[in-house]
Amino acid sequence: MRLGSTVPLVTPLYQSSVYTITDLDALERLYGGQDAGFIYARDGHPNAAQLAAQLARMEKAHWAVVCSSGMAALTAAILTLIRSGDRIVASHRLYGRTTQLLQQELPRFGVQTTFVDTTDLAAVRQALSTPARLLLVETMSNPTCRLADLSGLADLCEQADVNLIVDNTFATPVLLRPLEWGADMVVESLTKFMSGHGDVVLGTVCGADPALLTQLNQTVSIWGFASNPFDCWLTERGLATLDLRMRAASSNAAALADWLATQPGVRQVIYPGRPDHPDYRLAQRLLNGRFGNMLCFELDGGRDAVNRFMRQAPAIPFSPSLGSTQTTCSYPAGTSHRYDTPEERKLQGITDGMIRLSVGIEPLEAIREALASGLSIAKKLAI
Ligand SMILES: Cc1ncc(COP(=O)(O)O)c(C=O)c1O
Repeated sequence: MRLGSTVPLVTPLYQSSVYTITDLDALERLYGGQDAGFIYARDGHPNAAQLAAQLARMEKAHWAVVCSSGMAALTAAILTLIRSGDRIVASHRLYGRTTQLLQQELPRFGVQTTFVDTTDLAAVRQALSTPARLLLVETMSNPTCRLADLSGLADLCEQADVNLIVDNTFATPVLLRPLEWGADMVVESLTKFMSGHGDVVLGTVCGADPALLTQLNQTVSIWGFASNPFDCWLTERGLATLDLRMRAASSNAAALADWLATQPGVRQVIYPGRPDHPDYRLAQRLLNGRFGNMLCFELDGGRDAVNRFMRQAPAIPFSPSLGSTQTTCSYPAGTSHRYDTPEERKLQGITDGMIRLSVGIEPLEAIREALASGLSIAKKLAI
């Protein structure tokens, strides 16, 4: 916005639900695309447009659309592509609500999903040998950080004429830009690391094909998936430090993963930057030398040990989200994957003793001390 001969350095907050238009001729020029501008905030607003332009640059996409949450973005991306009677192929390692969307919601509209182990390319090839509309994977799966072999999956999708949608929430474009590896659309929950301060709920879809953008914009407006200006404004501010935050949190997470693996009472540590992670080599190839802020560790003693750990480590709040500046922990079996069946959780390697850690950017020693406090009591009482 120009103010005399100047413009503000920082994007202003345009907290308006609607815009004024001079007359009917101006209205027609706006709808026709001859004039730039906005009409109604559910169809678009300046803060979403500004944020979308930045996201498109970060993902090396031709376009980005901002939605009211990560789930809204995922739903919008899927609805853009599917018709009643279609089939989806999806990873069996997905955020729990995504699995529910595919398993419970979409069948009501005549869309069925086949779940497969997408780390097994032969299984994906087999699943795609029956007609399907799209393949859905997480680049780094929630919570066990299994990596998707994006170029292998993109080749299979091309052969089968299927769209590849990837959820890049755990990796963020700092670690991985899926469009460069052949994905058709990238979805991010901006609620997490991208906005980065635990005060926003927002999502985005990014892509390359202009035809998909037209349909996606229509889906977002008609289904009501639009974003609000203040969350866009906060996210734009958060993105300014994304690279710095990811650098600091990844370095903390790598050190903590190695330290946790030496602690009595810790049965298993899952971190893609450790050689004992099943996708370590793939992570080295796909990620840009950093392995993210997310890790899991499993305590001896199951759910009771987790409870004791949480009570004894108040400096690591039990807070079922991720990607904030502060280190937090979550319990996949009771939160993000609560509605998966025990068999589905087992298939994904989610156990009753598993804690998911979202490592923040605090000094490493402070996080280690807080974890040690939780572990000491968990150990003692588990005996
Ligand atoms: C991998 C992943 N994708 C999508 C979502 C949904 O995002 P939102 O909570 O912004 O709707 C989440 C939420 O935890 C997630 O972990």
